[in-house]
Formats: sequence, C-alpha cells, structure tokens
Amino acid sequence: GTIYLKDYSAPAFLINRTELHFELGEEHTIVHSRLHLLRSPEHAGEPPLVLQGQELELLEVAIDRDVLVEDAYSVDEDTLVIDKLPEQCVLSVKTRIRPQDNSSLEGLYKSHTMFCTQCEAEGFRKITYYLDRPDVMSVFTVTITADPVRYPVLLSNGNLLEDRTLDDGRRQVLWHDPFPKPCYLFALVAGDLECVEDQFTTASGREVCLRLYVEAKDLGKCEHAMGSLQRSMRWDEEVYGRMYDLDIFNIVAVDDFNMGAMENKSLNIFNTSCVLCDPNITTDRGYQRVEAIVAHEYFHNWSGNRVTCRDWFQLSLKEGFTVFRDAEFSADVGSRTVKRVEDVTLLRTAQFAEDAGPMAHPVRPEAYIEINNFYTLTVYEKGAEVVRMIHTLLGAEDFRRGSDLYFQRHDGQAVTCEDFVRAMEDASGVDLGQFRRWYSQAGTPLLRVRDSYDEDAQTYVLEVSQSCPPTPGQPGKQPFVIPLAMGLLGDAGNLPLRLAGEEPDAETADNTHRVLVVDQAQQRFEFVGVGERPVPSLLRGFSAPVRLDYPFSRVALCQLMSRDDDGFVRWDSAQALATQVIGDVQAQLAAGEAPQVDALLLEACASLLEDESLEHAMVAEMLTLPGENYLAELCEEGVADVDLIHAARAAVQAALGVGCRELLLRRYQALSSARPYVAEGDEIGRRALRNLCLDYLACADAAHLDMARAQYQAADNLTERLAALRCLACYGGEGDWAAPLQAFYEDWQDETLAINHWLTLQATMPDAGVLDRVRTLMAHPAFDLRNPNKVRALVGAFAGQNPVHFHREDGAGYALLGEVVEKLNASNPQIAARLLTPLTRWRRYRGRGEAMCAELERLAALPGLSPDVYELVSKSLSQS
Ligand code: ARG
Ligand code: ZN
Repeated sequence: GTIYLKDYSAPAFLINRTELHFELGEEHTIVHSRLHLLRSPEHAGEPPLVLQGQELELLEVAIDRDVLVEDAYSVDEDTLVIDKLPEQCVLSVKTRIRPQDNSSLEGLYKSHTMFCTQCEAEGFRKITYYLDRPDVMSVFTVTITADPVRYPVLLSNGNLLEDRTLDDGRRQVLWHDPFPKPCYLFALVAGDLECVEDQFTTASGREVCLRLYVEAKDLGKCEHAMGSLQRSMRWDEEVYGRMYDLDIFNIVAVDDFNMGAMENKSLNIFNTSCVLCDPNITTDRGYQRVEAIVAHEYFHNWSGNRVTCRDWFQLSLKEGFTVFRDAEFSADVGSRTVKRVEDVTLLRTAQFAEDAGPMAHPVRPEAYIEINNFYTLTVYEKGAEVVRMIHTLLGAEDFRRGSDLYFQRHDGQAVTCEDFVRAMEDASGVDLGQFRRWYSQAGTPLLRVRDSYDEDAQTYVLEVSQSCPPTPGQPGKQPFVIPLAMGLLGDAGNLPLRLAGEEPDAETADNTHRVLVVDQAQQRFEFVGVGERPVPSLLRGFSAPVRLDYPFSRVALCQLMSRDDDGFVRWDSAQALATQVIGDVQAQLAAGEAPQVDALLLEACASLLEDESLEHAMVAEMLTLPGENYLAELCEEGVADVDLIHAARAAVQAALGVGCRELLLRRYQALSSARPYVAEGDEIGRRALRNLCLDYLACADAAHLDMARAQYQAADNLTERLAALRCLACYGGEGDWAAPLQAFYEDWQDETLAINHWLTLQATMPDAGVLDRVRTLMAHPAFDLRNPNKVRALVGAFAGQNPVHFHREDGAGYALLGEVVEKLNASNPQIAARLLTPLTRWRRYRGRGEAMCAELERLAALPGLSPDVYELVSKSLSQS
C-alpha cells in the first residue's frame, strides 16, 4: 500500500538499548535480540507493540525472561505484534535467517564467502523484529559468534570490547557503539579479509585508526580510497568544523552490492567499484568517483548519522546536504568548474527527465509505495541543488553559521527538512518561507528571459518569467525562489551592474556579477547606465536547477563561450551552440538534405583547440557534444527520434573531425609524450583531451583507426585502453574490434571491475549486432545476474546508453529489458526496478510509446510483482 507523509506519528515505544547476538552459520544464522523497551511518555494508554520483520523464522519471544506462549503475540508476513507490555521491559526475540539464500542484498546476506549487511532503508527487518524506522534511536551492543577459520574478521559498529575463543572453538567478539542510532545504520561484516591500515589525527588530537578491508587479491588497490578518506576528514574539519568522534573508522569492500556505498556508523560498506582503484581496472573518472563517494559516506557521519532523518520522506535532509558537501569537497580538491559541468550534465540529462516523467516527485516526497524507489536523482542531486541555492542566497558565512546551528541544535536527533531550513533561517535572518516550495513542488521550472536595450536612456531590461509544468498530483505550481546569478558582457568585457533605483557602487566593489532573486511569476529588472547593448550571461554556475529559455544568437553564444568570466557559462554556451547546430542537421536529414554544419561551430571548436592556455579538462568538456539522451530530453513529448538524433550528432561530430583535422592531430600528438600514469588533476585532463581528439579523428576518417590501435598497444592504463577500444568499436568494422575485444578479455578476465567496462563497451556499440551480442554476453562466464554491477554494466548500459538499439523499431530492446526485469523481480527487486527506468520514459519517444507500454503492461500483469516494480509500472501506465 501507499505510505503518506501526512500520516506520520511519533513511535509509541523507544528502544533505549539494543543487544544483538549473531551465531553465523553455513546452514542458517541465529539472531538473538534483547530490546530494552520503554513506552513513550506521549503515548498514554497501552498501545500494542508492532515490530517489523520479514522473511524471519520466529523461534522464541520472551519478556523480562518469561517466554511468551503463542497466544500472547501474533505474527504475520510483516509484523510481530505484542498486545500487553509493561511500561518498561526487556523483550527477547530469537529468530533464524538464511543469509546465504538472500539474493535481494538487503538485510544480512553473503557476497562470495563474506557475510555483510545493507539495512538502509528497511533492510534491518530482514535481520530481526524491530521498530524499523529512523526516529527510533538506540545504543547497540553486538556479539558475533563464528567459525574463526572461515571468518577471521568479525566487525560491527563502534568499539571492539571483547574478543575470545569459546570452548567449542568458535570465536566471539563484542562490539559497542556509544552513539544512539537508528537500525538502518547498523552493520555487520564477517569474512576472510585483509586490511590496509593508516591513521588520522583530528584537530582535537584524537588518533583515529583507519582500516580498509578487502579480499587479499585487492590489497594493492586501496591507496587512493585511503588518501581520499584522509582528505575528507581534514576538509570536514576545515570547512564545516566537523570532527570524527570514534577511535576507529572502517571501510569494507563488497562485490555484490545494490548501490554505491553505505554510511553505517564507523563501518562504511562499499561496492568494490566505488572504493578499489588501480590504473588497469579503474578509469580516470572512476578515481574521481571513488574520491567523491568515500567523502560522501564519511560526511554522512555528521549529516546523516549524528543528525538523522525523522522518517524516509526526509531522505533529502541527509542525502541532498551530503551530496552538496561532497560536491564542494571535489570542487576544492580538483577543478571547480569541471566538477560543476559534470554534475549539471547529470542533472539536466537524468534528473530533468525524472522530473518530466511519471515518477516525478518533490525533493521531499509526500507518498511512496516502496521507499527504495525514492533514492533518486531528485532526492540526491536536485536536493543538493536546493542546499546550494540556500548557500547562494545566504552567502558562505551565514550558511556556515546555519550549518553549525543545525548540528548543534539537532545532534543526536532524528529531524526533518523543515528543521534544516529553520536552522538556516535562524542563523542568517534570511526568510526562506517561499523558498521552501523547492521541497514540496515537483517538476523543473522554466525560466523565460527576454531583454531589451534602450540606447538613448542607456537602460537594459530583463523581463523574467517562471513557470513549472504539471507533475503527477500537482497540476499547478506556485512561484519558486530562483537565484539567478548573472552578468552583462560588453565589447570590452563585463559591464558594471546597477539596477534602477540603486546608488552607484563604490569603485572598488565587484559590481559585474550579481544574483537576482526571481520570486514572482513575472518580474522586470532594469539596469541603468548601460553604455552598449550587452550579451547577458545568465544562470552563472548553474545557480538554480531550472531550464533557461533565452533566444541567444549564435554570435552571442560564441562571445560567451570565449569571453565570459564564468566557466560554467562558457561551457553551457558551447553546449547550446552545438545543440542548435545538431538541430539544423536533424532538420536537414529529416528533409533528405545533405548535412551542413554551421561554420561558426567549426571556428569555435578550432579556437578552443588552438588555445593552449585553457585547462585541458575544460577544453575536453567544451568540445564534447551534448549526449543523445540529453538531446532527447530537450525534445517535446512524443517527438524524440533516437535515430535522427544519433545520425545528426554523428554527422556534426564527423564534420568537426574533418574540419579540425590538423588541429586535432597536432593536439593529440602534443599530448602524447609518454608520462607515467597518475590519476590526478591535469594528467586526467590531458588524457581526456587526447582521447577526445582521437575520438573526433576516428569518427571523421577510419584511416585514423591506426592511431587507436597504436594507443591501445602503448597504453599502461584503462582510460587510454578503453578510449582506443571505443574508437575501434564505434567507428570500425568487426575486423577492427573483434580481436582487440578478445585480447582485452584475455588480459583482464581476472579483474571483474575491468571486465565490467568491457561489458559496457560491448553493450553501447552502434553496430546492428549489439542486441544479440548483449544476449550472448548474458550467458558468458563474465556475466552474473546476481551481481548488480554486472547487470548494470551490461543490461543497464544497453537500455540507458544505447538509445538507438534499445529503441529498435521491432521492440526487441524492450523485450530484452523486460525479460531481465522479470527475472530480477523475483531475486532482487531493487535492481529490477532500477533497471526498468528507461521504459518508464515512453512518452518522450516518437512512434515507440505503444511498444514500450506493451512491455510495461506485460510486466504489470505478472504474478508475484514486487512493490518495487509494481510502483514503477503502475505509475508509468496510469493517468494516460
Ligand atoms: N545512504 C547511502 C548513500 O547515499 C545509499 C543507500 C541507498 N539505499 C537504497 N536502498 N537504495 O550513501
Ligand atoms: Zn548518501
């Protein structure tokens, strides 16, 4: 059924202390819990105790040592209900579970030979009966008993208090976490693991032991994550004044994991793909991702653990804030503009699509069927944009005051998004009343800007209006508060900004950049003393998660691209120009004409390639054409034509490759000097630009495939190898790619993370045989339907990153996805629902809606549909 935010009520019972005892076994695991319960003072009367539990075999229930007879409690599929409880008691429950058969990867399960847990959001109920809700915070004591040969490492949260050998030879450890926490932050790991150890001394002088546990073969892949952890710990002290609070911080790498990583108190559990790094198995992007995710999970220790969520509708309280924190960390340790460009690309491609689709929901959702479906780009990425806007509106200093107040006021509590906003308001004095609509209204606002210049009066006017399309359950929207960062570009640079009615600024102040606050449906901003018709530089730094509609001329875009102060605007203008040119070519191709690529774009690209003063990574970003999914996302509903988009984009790329051939070759060669691989700043930028040059050249002329072959042979790292392989695979024939693909497999077959890239490459190739290849690979020893990384790498990549073939006219792409979703629905519903997402976008595509809906309907009719898949298919098909 559907759960509503409006139905929230505080828990009737508290659990002051939680004692858990695990007897880990190969046949089954026994979990014995002792819950120190207290009826909540607010709940007079004698409410029954309702504990959540799923897939548990209940063995015994006792209250204060008295074993209950069967009619003193009742059990069903999801709950254990006990009617009469004293005000205060210890409830003991003994259950039996079978982690080795748990394929959902929620609760306690096995990955390879290791026991591990994933409890967020509601996995703890698969371990034992509990008040499985984040506002029940308890001090946990955990005993683990296990075979010391199979499981030499036994971990849980907090501090290790005891470690002994029992008479029967089994080992028993006792862990105690002094910080009260909700059960979603509980973790347990048992396995034959090795560890890399280092340390960190906090600003207050606490020596923290840092350990990263991995399988023995991966010991050499931990350095980057460890360094990232140390950098994150320092950064959180410096930027937020947040210190670590225990003597131990552990990270464990697990191969079978539904998502990226999990912030369990002092025992973070990571997907191997988000923590292990090696030049041969990790791309440059992967190194940056690991750094960001290690930071993200570490930052949760304050934004998530010390202060947690009252209920799951508040998920963005911890996720939006923590994503904002990790993005700022990445911006500080790397290139700020490049990081922003990457994040905005993801937001505009995938989050905007979510906001425009059937699952659109506010940053703080009001209803859900399955909470796992709400770990979304909206909650995470748009949620981070909302926090960023608060930062922009308050300024860095007041924002920090607000965050200090938030942590101080709510330490040890489970709170709401409202509490966060109020702390920001109270500390800054800024009224965020209307701003709160960002939390409650779904959909991407459209900011329409028109301008006029009056030469005689020397005034320049921006007419700004905002609107937001309807989303499920929200037909109309109220105006948002939109910070519009901007400047005005004149012939000789930025113009000073003065709004009508303002005093002239003192000479020294930076008056060429400002943030206009747009908070009405229509607004007018009049600038005075404007000596020439300017080009507006709008939404600098992507100051709000909106679509911008301003009729830029191509000449204006070129000016912004080459001269604006704001790196984001320079990149965005390049994207806008390329988008317009790809649009021209689409129209030409649709009319059966030969493609003609606007010379302005060619010139702009040439000058980017010529300018050696620009940051390499930035040139690479600016020369990267908007992706096919982004271009589809820009189309009106029912209009996106995947074949046309692909053909037009490819034609523009080829034309640029031909037109800039000499420059591309020169740049490629200049960047080729053999240097040892380092996954850092400018080295990453150099490789990105070099690989981009190669891609343009190979796209333009197959004669350049020899360069790709040479690069593949010479490469000492995955980034260069994959880029070369991709050129062969995308622009060559089978004769060009079959042997190198085979060779790659033979070289790296023992490195599952490298092989996942190999799977993705083959799923995203443009050749007509790709769908059959995906099917064949599903039977390959390198594939495993039980491993989420492999499913995402092969099937997820095919459906999400190969639009032309996923949307094949005969529907075979949809059928393939449907088959896999059907299988996963039974074994791992979370992954099934994730994988299904591309099908839910059926309204976008021209001529494909019916076939996509037919597959959704087939899935909807399956018996035994999980709530995860049910929610997606039913919402996609409803309110046609
Ligand atoms: N809290 C984790 C993180 O953001 C992710 C947990 C995802 N859980 C889920 N059920 N999808 O770091
Ligand atoms: Zn998170």
